[in-house]
Amino acid sequence: GMLSNTKSEFGPLKDCDRIFQNLYGFHDWRLKGACQRGDWYRTADLLDMGANWIVDEVKRSGLRGRGGSGYYTGNKWEFLQKVNANNKILILNCAEGEPGTCKDREILRHEPHKIIEGCLLAGYAMGCEKCIIYVRNCFYNEACNLQFALAEAYRYGLLGCNACDTGIKFDIQVQRGDRYLSGEETALVNCLMGKLARPRKRPPYLHEQGYFDHPCLVLNTETLAVVPTILRRGAKWFTGLGRNMNFGTKLFSICGHVQHPCTVEEEMSMPLREIIDMHAGGVCGGWNNLLGVFPGGLSSPLIGKVGAEGLLMDYDCLQKAGSSFGTGGIIVVSNNCDPLLVMQRSIEFYMKQTCKQCTPCRDGAIWLPKILRNFTKGESVPQMIDFVAVICKTMIGTTICGLSDSQANVAMGLITHFAPHIQQRIEAFGKDC
Ligand code: NAI
Repeated sequence: GMLSNTKSEFGPLKDCDRIFQNLYGFHDWRLKGACQRGDWYRTADLLDMGANWIVDEVKRSGLRGRGGSGYYTGNKWEFLQKVNANNKILILNCAEGEPGTCKDREILRHEPHKIIEGCLLAGYAMGCEKCIIYVRNCFYNEACNLQFALAEAYRYGLLGCNACDTGIKFDIQVQRGDRYLSGEETALVNCLMGKLARPRKRPPYLHEQGYFDHPCLVLNTETLAVVPTILRRGAKWFTGLGRNMNFGTKLFSICGHVQHPCTVEEEMSMPLREIIDMHAGGVCGGWNNLLGVFPGGLSSPLIGKVGAEGLLMDYDCLQKAGSSFGTGGIIVVSNNCDPLLVMQRSIEFYMKQTCKQCTPCRDGAIWLPKILRNFTKGESVPQMIDFVAVICKTMIGTTICGLSDSQANVAMGLITHFAPHIQQRIEAFGKDC
């Protein structure tokens, strides 16, 4: 059945069910190679099916946002589709900056035509004639590949004033930017507008107040890149993979203390342990050497070894486990390191990312790194552990964007899993003095 989670149901994803056939760049990423793999195959026929059919098929596929939210993509598209305006814009988020996550980057590198075709189909479905692709600055070669693929698409009439010979007008341009926080959709739009990359309060949502006076919508790269294949093979095929409301395939990045860090496409809901063992050569020192795991990028709450047992990699299972699916970027932490240092280093990442708009986030970014550094050294008092929980409580659900929660998640992960370690460190420091 769809909802059972016995291990025997999962093997490696069959090659024929792989969406990203060129994930590793073994083949030609240019137009010719892309077409041989099935990209741009009768795109005009898909467009001919009409905007409503496209949105409905995406809805029927149950596709959920691959950038971290898990929001139902088809429902989101409908919001913009229903806006009555002739200057709507589609915006693609290639700002990928979540630690432990390297999937959108691989798509840009090796499957740029999936992105371009996806933009055309999604843009047409929602009534947009324009698309801006926001690419993170340091993805230099990736942006070059994308730009090259765009030039090919224009040259062969796949885009432009008569895209795919359908009479549809659709243009794509690339813009670059450089902040972690600009991956947050409203900060991204502000950034495109030449403003500081600071998140805006939602509502109003971007389809209500978007890019200058253009209603818009921001999509994650992976979410968009799977759309042409879903439309071609049908929602039924997609829902045949994964389990109830967690359908399809997913790109998982696996890094940290594993033998072979990698990015793989696998079936949604595959057991965490199986993904790590099958694709990353297992946890360094074996599964029993696992300390914990950030299952969905650094922003997803840490799960300890006991909790990691039997986990399925999907939205619902990870939420139930008290974490989140996030980007599917699995960060493995083994017993061979100092957990306090890992958490300190993690909190220091966010320290540099806060935009300082909201007080809890700004203040947290000052205090938490200081407190965590002192924990690592043992230069603290046990009461500080409880105080961290107090600080975190003020930081969760109180700010404009998720960055405050992400910081608090790390700090809470530290005190829920490693309080005894902190205690020991404090005692040891006391003896030293
Ligand atoms: P969200 O759940 O607030 O929103 C998801 C999408 O649905 C947005 O596009 C939003 O505009 C839309 N939406 C939600 N409610 C709506 C409504 N009532 N009407 C219209 N549209 C609506 O999540 P958000 O803030 O976009 O993403 C948070 C996640 O991002 C985190 O859980 C984290 O895992 C992930 N993340 C990803 C990073 C990356 O590099 N990919 C970096 C950092 C965090």
